[in-house]
Amino acid sequence: MSISSSANNDRNSLEARLKIDYLLDIKALEQDDVEDVIDGLGTTPKSLPARYFYDERGSQLFEEICQLPEYYPTRTEAGILQKYATQIIERTKAIELIELGSGSSTKTRFLLDVYRAFNLPLYYTPVDVSGSILRASAENLLTDYPKLKVQGKVATYSQALQQLSTSFLGKRIIIFLGSSIGNFNPTECDRFIEQITTALKPGDYFLLGIDLQKPPAILESAYNDSQEVTAAFNLNMLQHLNNRFQGNFNLDLFKHQAVYNQTEHQIEMYLISQQAQTVTLESLDLTVKLEREERILTEISRKFDLAAMKQYLGDRHLNLIQTYTDPQQWFGLLLCQFSP
Ligand code: AVI
Repeated sequence: MSISSSANNDRNSLEARLKIDYLLDIKALEQDDVEDVIDGLGTTPKSLPARYFYDERGSQLFEEICQLPEYYPTRTEAGILQKYATQIIERTKAIELIELGSGSSTKTRFLLDVYRAFNLPLYYTPVDVSGSILRASAENLLTDYPKLKVQGKVATYSQALQQLSTSFLGKRIIIFLGSSIGNFNPTECDRFIEQITTALKPGDYFLLGIDLQKPPAILESAYNDSQEVTAAFNLNMLQHLNNRFQGNFNLDLFKHQAVYNQTEHQIEMYLISQQAQTVTLESLDLTVKLEREERILTEISRKFDLAAMKQYLGDRHLNLIQTYTDPQQWFGLLLCQFSP
């Protein structure tokens, strides 16, 4: 066989194990984006949806944040996953793994390694809104894990959860890592958990990563890192708006702030206007007036209490069967079983 036909065969066998559904309704999403910006900047106090962080530059900056010495969640969760991956798979015996917000699927590899080591088949369904990241990471995984089948969904969580196959007979596990659940407010969180339980059959599993409450100084330094990558990530949201909507935000006239709200148990990220100013977003026909020191809320990142989370999930028929954590109890990985 020639080298090129063997490369073609490899490619074919890879494609045979890969299916990607494109479910995004771009028009509807764009409409939501427009409405959220107009509403968020048109009301006091001002806010912007956190999803505006993630243009190409923002996604790169987030990858950098995950490597920062002060930003402990990523490596702490990775350490927990690495240590307990075998236990999780032995316990659940899932043959379908759905990951919401899969990105580059880096931490998921600890789970996939176990399937490979025990020569177990697995259907992996990564869900992400970025089609290019999903495809690139799926191709890498298929090369590294020969028994893996990938059926990705380029979709919102809600779309993906509604469109999961109902005929599947094996055990299913949905995983949601990185404490991304902390970026939902309580109402969004309730809605999200309801969608999770709708997508599970009795006996299926949900693995949830949550950042735990800890001294404010540790939290605040994780979101005010010394290299100011988080500041650049926050400010980049304004650049993203400028690019999307022909805006004229001057990034030099805003400052990043991240504070821990001890009553709500959440980090709040703000962009603070350094002077009274008027900004326009031409394609939205929107003019925004900001006072000196006026804040725009760009993100909340809730920090959880293990016992309260156990109760919350249990009340929604997601019974906690195992809590995995690190020696400092900074991060929790909760394995729940759906028992309606
Ligand atoms: C994606 N999410 C879980 C991150 C967090 O910690 O809330 C986003 C982030 N914002 C600033 N740093 C990281």
